[in-house]
Amino acid sequence: MAGRLEPTPVPRRDFLGIFGLVSAGLAICGSMIGMLRLPKPRVTPDASSRFRAGKPDEFPPGSDRILTERSVRVVSTAQGVAAMSMICTHLGCIAGPSEEGFHCPCHGSVFADDGKVIGGPAPRALPWLKVSQAVDGTLVIDTESEVPPATWYMPVLSSLPGDGVSTA
Ligand code: FES
Repeated sequence: MAGRLEPTPVPRRDFLGIFGLVSAGLAICGSMIGMLRLPKPRVTPDASSRFRAGKPDEFPPGSDRILTERSVRVVSTAQGVAAMSMICTHLGCIAGPSEEGFHCPCHGSVFADDGKVIGGPAPRALPWLKVSQAVDGTLVIDTESEVPPATWYMPVLSSLPGDGVSTA
């Protein structure tokens, strides 16, 4: 006979019933949490496609730099400053400099110095990007605004922004 301090054993059938209820409860809770998380994107988009590349004097005429953290090439000539995306138009790998111009390591697309496709599966040229200036004179590049090839931005060297866009 079970005493007051001794727990009564749970019959096997009741134990399986309780186990089943706990399992169902956990499954329902898990799926509810999953459903509540659905509206929140797991990958948050970049805050802005525009970024500050630097002051115009960091890109003197004749300079040709690849900003690797943004996969953008910034070229400066007497005509002004231009930016070209280094993201391959095939499947989005990052192209790098080569003898011909640029080469994509993923599937072998080759681009000329001005971004035109000269080989491989890339369906179109590397896009040229809009360059502008912030109020403080910093060059701003918009990675989602394409401009026609050979569009040069002539930086205004004062602290005031200007439009200064010319197409050669
Ligand atoms: S991603 Fe560049 S060639 Fe395929």
